[in-house]
Amino acid sequence: MKDKVLELKKKRNAVIVAHNYQLGEIQNIADYLGDSLGMAHFGAASTAQTIVICGVHFMAESAAILSPEKTVLIPDLAAGCSLAECITAAQLTEWKKEHPQAVVVSYVNTTAEVKALSDICCTSSNALKVVQSIPEDKEILFVPDMYLGTWVRMQEPKRKIRLWNGSCHTHVRIRPEPIAKLKADHPKAEFLMHPECGCLTASMGLADKILSTDGIIKRARESAAKEFIIATETGILHRLKKENPEKTFYPAAEEATCEFMKKITLEKVLWSLEDMQYRVTVPKDTAERARKALDAMMQIQ
Ligand code: 13P
Repeated sequence: MKDKVLELKKKRNAVIVAHNYQLGEIQNIADYLGDSLGMAHFGAASTAQTIVICGVHFMAESAAILSPEKTVLIPDLAAGCSLAECITAAQLTEWKKEHPQAVVVSYVNTTAEVKALSDICCTSSNALKVVQSIPEDKEILFVPDMYLGTWVRMQEPKRKIRLWNGSCHTHVRIRPEPIAKLKADHPKAEFLMHPECGCLTASMGLADKILSTDGIIKRARESAAKEFIIATETGILHRLKKENPEKTFYPAAEEATCEFMKKITLEKVLWSLEDMQYRVTVPKDTAERARKALDAMMQIQ
């Protein structure tokens, strides 16, 4: 099946762009494997005619917004994102009416309609820099992840940042008690945490670093530590173990598995390339407005 995928990929002039939470069988065939920011940059820079997004729906929408001339495919349309479902365009419109002077910062885990109503997007790897790029006296509406927003707010306590009450159903499964136990059992382990974690404020005192998924990958590679406790979706462990066979990784929660990310299988990627399905497009007007918010983010290094 892998050979068939690689052959069809060539025939279709396609690239496979995968997120760090994907199944190992997908990670192993990806042309690009990374976090949401890296995926967006790679898709936009690629000269391939077709981009197969192995991730969740908002990632495919971002690729379609940034590369309207390319064919963007997602192998299963049911690969949604609970966080992106936390805020609708209608809800954001109402919230903006209450704070007409505020700057809207939206996490990329949002629908294209929500991005179209935003001033600038962010990902977990650049959220702080994005917020710091906004004049200090400006009020900020941060949507939809309250944990990432809380973390940013703690780094920038002088700013007025209002948080939307949204969260990722997978990261809220990560609880503080098992982390404290893992830390006690493995005192030399470095504890790396994703800012979407539901136990962010309870466990951040124990964290050595709070990082995006690519940040976790990089830190694990560069750190002298031999053991790590990893607080994020468990799909990342495949890459961590593969790239660091001499190191040991303990998931902070075995149950932190995103069912939507796991909807993408090798078989579905094959079908996707065979049938050129499922194509993800964004209406022109929405895409143009959403693109401004994505472009503004992508200019921030
Ligand atoms: P990263 O950008 O850190 O990969 O996170 C994306 C995501 O969807 C986390 O749930």
